[in-house]
Amino acid sequence: MSGVDEVTAATAATSLADAADETTAEQVVTPWDVAGGADGKIDYAKLVNDFGCQVIDEHLIARIEKCTGVKAHPFLTRGMFFAHRELDQIVSAYEKGEKFYLYTGRGPSSESLHLGHLIPFHFTKWLQEAFKVPLVIQLTDDEKFLWKDMSLEAARRLARENAKDIVAVGFDPRRTFIFSDVNYMCTPFYLNTLKIAKCVTFNQARGIFGFAGESNIGQIGFPPTQAAPAFPDCFPHLFGTDKKSLRCLIPCAIDQDPYFRMTRDAAPRIGGHKPALVESRFFPALKGESGKMSASDPTSAIYVTDTPKQIKDKVNKYAFSGGRETLEEHRALGGNLETDIPWKWLNFFLDDDDELAKIGKEFSSGAMSSGEIKARLIECLSPMIAEHQRCRALVTDATVDQFFSTAPRDFDSMFGELSGDPPAPPGEGEAVSFQGGENLVARGAPEPAAPAAAAAASGDAGDAPLSKNALKKIQKEKEIAEKKAKKAAEKAAAKAAAQ
Ligand code: TYM
Repeated sequence: MSGVDEVTAATAATSLADAADETTAEQVVTPWDVAGGADGKIDYAKLVNDFGCQVIDEHLIARIEKCTGVKAHPFLTRGMFFAHRELDQIVSAYEKGEKFYLYTGRGPSSESLHLGHLIPFHFTKWLQEAFKVPLVIQLTDDEKFLWKDMSLEAARRLARENAKDIVAVGFDPRRTFIFSDVNYMCTPFYLNTLKIAKCVTFNQARGIFGFAGESNIGQIGFPPTQAAPAFPDCFPHLFGTDKKSLRCLIPCAIDQDPYFRMTRDAAPRIGGHKPALVESRFFPALKGESGKMSASDPTSAIYVTDTPKQIKDKVNKYAFSGGRETLEEHRALGGNLETDIPWKWLNFFLDDDDELAKIGKEFSSGAMSSGEIKARLIECLSPMIAEHQRCRALVTDATVDQFFSTAPRDFDSMFGELSGDPPAPPGEGEAVSFQGGENLVARGAPEPAAPAAAAAASGDAGDAPLSKNALKKIQKEKEIAEKKAKKAAEKAAAKAAAQ
């Protein structure tokens, strides 16, 4: 899709963001607000249309299976990860032997993760193991400080706590780098942040994110920080300093799409590939699809720290049931799979396709009661959460430091079958250096492009003399970019004026 389309689609989000007012029936999906339409449900088809992404079809899933030799994850075959942007291009590049890396993240706003947060991390682990590629995980302690009533100290502490839960999902430190924005912000990262920031006007940012006069200016300036890790030269210790060499694939729920629409629009203007995206539906709140999983209401969600008793009590007491008022009525009329939360949650976490189909049939026909489907959910979640807790207990500070390490890696050893040792954690009493400096370049990383070509690609004049053709190309690209930006700004301004 062209940049113009992405910006146009982005401005469509203005109306969504502005519709956060609960009196309207318009659905709202931004990185900070998710609310369904009149019936409380998210209309995903409308979202795909408004945002301008594509639906993942069977053909694409079959190609992924073929090129990785791995059976597709149930999140793909069941349509939990349902939308994408240029995932097909990542697959085509991979089929030709090209390399790519994964990028995902977490905004540390609570002490532990809820089950919804686990979805992208479980899927990312599967992607990492299937494609055998490196992964970077961003912890946006800065974002949470700017948006929540939270001190920077608290956000930074939660980032480290959340990192332990992320590590417990089972990533391999030999090809995974986790970083907190506050700790890692370094010259290569900041350079990209600045270049992206310069590509986006305030009108566009307002269109994409719904910023208003009351938004603090830290919030308005934040999006490039989440955009930058989509460019590999933010991580010289992993990927070297060549922005053009590596593609990036971002798994996330569709609420993060606005950040990456903006990123994709800026990419060609800063000399990078547009990042590809693979996007999931939302794992619904315990009390019903129209509700919200909120840290301030512990009964709205199940957390990875919950005990077996808490899991049992929460599911039995609070899980919204699609069952009927009485057992007799239920047997006669059957349950409603459209609203039943235990059914929806089983769709995410019960691996066995045959059993899932059987449960769906029995619950909807009335043969399986509401109590029985809840019991099956408890039986499914309890061992999964117990296993997470067992892995979490094994994560020491030294383990976390390995993932945070900015020691230069061997580029090739992060792709394909793993070899070599994990990055060394710091010695006892030694401070961890979070600063990825420009001199800390991965061993064997691709050489940067020739200065003239790199400058042409990034739009920087640089010191090297440019050929006539390169100058023409830059001029043309600039004109196109300016036209696009002007058109988008006019649209956003017209929309804002009309409201
Ligand atoms: P955060 O912490 O809100 O969420 C972390 C990840 O979980 C996804 N997610 C969900 N997925 C399914 N069902 C849900 N109910 C649900 N709630 C949250 C989010 O989409 C996200 O993928 N700004 C981001 C952190 C971030 C990031 C990234 C996320 C930084 N860089 C790159 C994805 C990709 C945030 O606050 O996520």
